[in-house]
Amino acid sequence: MSDEYLVELAPGGQTFGCGPDETILDAALRQGLDIGYGCRQGRCSTCKYQVEDGEVDLGQASAYSLPDNERDAGWALLCCARPLTDLLIRDHRPPDTRALPVLAPRELAAQVAEVTQLTPELWRLAVTLAEPLEFYAGQFVELGLTRGAQTVWRSYSMASPPAASRRLEFILKRIEGGAFSGGLDTLASGESVVVRGPFGVSYLRAGTRPVLLCAIGSGLAPILAMLADASARRDPRRFTFYYGARRPQDLPDLESLAGELDLDLTYVPTLDGLEPGDDWQGAVGNVTRAIQGGVEDAHDVDAYLCGAPPMCDAVGRLLAAKGLPADQLYFDRFFAASK
Ligand SMILES: Cc1cc2nc3c(=O)[nH]c(=O)nc-3n(C[C@H](O)[C@H](O)[C@H](O)COP(=O)(O)OP(=O)(O)OC[C@H]3O[C@@H](n4cnc5c(N)ncnc54)[C@H](O)[C@@H]3O)c2cc1C
Ligand code: FES
Repeated sequence: MSDEYLVELAPGGQTFGCGPDETILDAALRQGLDIGYGCRQGRCSTCKYQVEDGEVDLGQASAYSLPDNERDAGWALLCCARPLTDLLIRDHRPPDTRALPVLAPRELAAQVAEVTQLTPELWRLAVTLAEPLEFYAGQFVELGLTRGAQTVWRSYSMASPPAASRRLEFILKRIEGGAFSGGLDTLASGESVVVRGPFGVSYLRAGTRPVLLCAIGSGLAPILAMLADASARRDPRRFTFYYGARRPQDLPDLESLAGELDLDLTYVPTLDGLEPGDDWQGAVGNVTRAIQGGVEDAHDVDAYLCGAPPMCDAVGRLLAAKGLPADQLYFDRFFAASK
């Protein structure tokens, strides 16, 4: 007898097996099923689906991400839920006609190649992989770092393009005391890390509309990958990149990070923490303000918002108010780990 439960997705009718000890999302991705998701840790609610038939263990879903009334109505976060019986799950999302085939996540050994400080807060981490990893520009992996008896897993978006499939680069905000990022300055070249992925559905879609990119802080990472990938493919679309930081010294050097880009790109850095004496002639204020002034009508753009969740949510609301349809908006929200 199989020890997997059978999960059916309505209305499409796709079926897949899910072991009792794996989350429904992990089982679906392992088998190449297209599921909406973001953080993979019960924080963003993107993987909220309705269980129409069968029983699940809801796992670590927080009361904020999955309130009681939704639990009572049969909703579950697929990144947390495990099956207790066979299941029928309803997908309420409109079909994403531009989605690329799901790349089944893998776990690969890797070694630290380089750690460089870019700004007072941002660091670049490069790792070399034992085998190439296929991914799409805008996706992330989980990095596992072992310290003593403990392995810390954290999500980081690739800053390097998919063409560089054996050397992945990341941009991390160093958080003093952070279990992963806090030790960046002590990571030694050659040290082992484990790479698990790829994950994420906020990758650059093909299309003809102009592309609006927006990030603050380390949200720069997936956007660098998208720009480099688009440039390598000679993507003819118009790209506008809004990037928010506090002071001039917090702005990473886009040119040296992205290399020479063969793109129709407008870069709009904007600073919201200027102090007397700072030398700055560019835009002032946060990215929401810059987009408020710079974008009149958003109905005909594709938008990618990356980084701190409050910024992504605020800019998402602004663009929706300016006419952006929900299926042209992609979020890569950097939720802090819940474990
Ligand atoms: C899909 C996804 C992609 C991500 N991509 C990136 C990326 O490309 N680059 C990147 O730097 N991070 C990224 N993150 C965030 C990253 O996974 C970690 O949460 C972050 O690096 C903190 O981990 P830590 O172990 O250093 O700190 P922790 O030990 O987890 O946290 C230490 C303390 O810092 C707080 N904290 C956590 N994040 C922040 C923050 N941003 N600012 C201030 N305080 C914070 C925590 O609440 C906690 O109190 C991503 C997250 C997700 C979900
Ligand atoms: S809550 Fe499940 S992917 Fe974010």
